[in-house]
Amino acid sequence: MNMKMRHAIMGVVLTLALISVVGPHGVAAQTDTDSRGADHVSGERIFAQHCAGCHGPEGKGDGYRMLGPDPANLTKPSTMQKSDVALLETIHEGKPNMPSWKLRLSEEDSRAVLAYIRTLAK
Ligand code: HEC
Repeated sequence: MNMKMRHAIMGVVLTLALISVVGPHGVAAQTDTDSRGADHVSGERIFAQHCAGCHGPEGKGDGYRMLGPDPANLTKPSTMQKSDVALLETIHEGKPNMPSWKLRLSEEDSRAVLAYIRTLAK
């Protein structure tokens, strides 16, 4: 099995794991994605639904852990010093142990969630 396949399968497995973590709320959000557009989903809601499972409710990286890299503590200066472009790239493309979001979050939603992450570092 090549890496790309493994990555894709890993993504599906993670998504399923997350749906079971976030519960029916998350499932509703998944089926919503095609009808998104007009209604603006706030970054906070997106974070709670899709990101907090791993990154923790306050983004401190204290969520769900797996073998391999731990979820980033998004409140750390090392993350906050990165540019929007760099962080959006990570959100779009994913990382080892982080799924890619580009097919699930619109550009607008990705920016909204990034803006929310920036409010977590205090
Ligand atoms: C399945 C767990 C998981 C989920 C879900 C997840 N992440 Fe991550 N994320 C990680 C891991 C693990 C890393 C660190 C990877 C590394 O260090 O190589 C990371 C890293 C990041 C980084 C990079 C931080 C830096 O300093 O470069 C950002 C930004 C980020 N995640 C945002 C998000 C957002 C936004 C969401 C929700 C849309 C999300 N993540 C969902 C696991 C996850």
